[in-house]
Amino acid sequence: MAEFVVEFGKSGAPPAPDGRLDGPAFHRNHDAIWSALTAFLSTQTGDVLELGSGTGQHAACFAQRSPHLTWWPSDIQPSHLASIEAWRRHSGLANLRAPQRIDLNDPAWVWTADGQAGGTLAAMLCNNVLHIAPWRVAQNLIAGAGRQLRAGGRLFVYGPFMRDGAHTAPSNAAFDAKLRAENPDWGVRDTRDLSTLAQAAGLTLAEIVPMPSNNFVLVFARAAGRN
Ligand SMILES: C[S@@+](CC[C@H](N)C(=O)[O-])C[C@H]1O[C@@H](n2cnc3c(N)ncnc32)[C@H](O)[C@@H]1O
Repeated sequence: MAEFVVEFGKSGAPPAPDGRLDGPAFHRNHDAIWSALTAFLSTQTGDVLELGSGTGQHAACFAQRSPHLTWWPSDIQPSHLASIEAWRRHSGLANLRAPQRIDLNDPAWVWTADGQAGGTLAAMLCNNVLHIAPWRVAQNLIAGAGRQLRAGGRLFVYGPFMRDGAHTAPSNAAFDAKLRAENPDWGVRDTRDLSTLAQAAGLTLAEIVPMPSNNFVLVFARAAGRN
């Protein structure tokens, strides 16, 4: 059974000599994803944690576009952690911190800031992870957001999703079937189920932003009054 649907560098472009991997989807999706983040992030200061950062290109690009925020990328795959660090060094950005290993299979996962407990986050970002991981990864992502976002904080989740029990395009239904055939624990998740998880974590699914190619950015919000 496949462990990863995407292991950057295994197919496509080989790593650069310094370990930087290139994800083809990054070039297609980063501007659209950024357009869903920028209004909120432009009003914030503090820390943004990315989960499942992959090559590290989104974190490097978005850190460059938001120098008023500190970005903390993460992943579980050693070659991806090396690529994220290589992109960080290549970027020379002071507001992009070293990657940390965060495994969303762990229900008690926490982020750290330079080895210390990280405190509360302005925002979290997770792109294209929930459909290539078991359902517990979605559970642990959203529960972790409930624990670690500050009042008024947001969790942004990008990818393909079903809406209220239905696929939004035939291509997503076919992709879902292909994923489940490869690994029965994977699959395109449903906004209704994610919204239920959010409520249990003290969050609300505040917005569903359509993206190109039948993807969405789901915006989960922690109430402004809570801390
Ligand atoms: C399809 S890739 C997406 C990478 C990147 N976010 C992007 O959009 O280009 C999925 C990523 O999730 C990571 N991942 C898979 N399972 C994970 C887990 N349990 N916890 C954290 N990251 C995980 C993989 O290593 C991989 O980098």
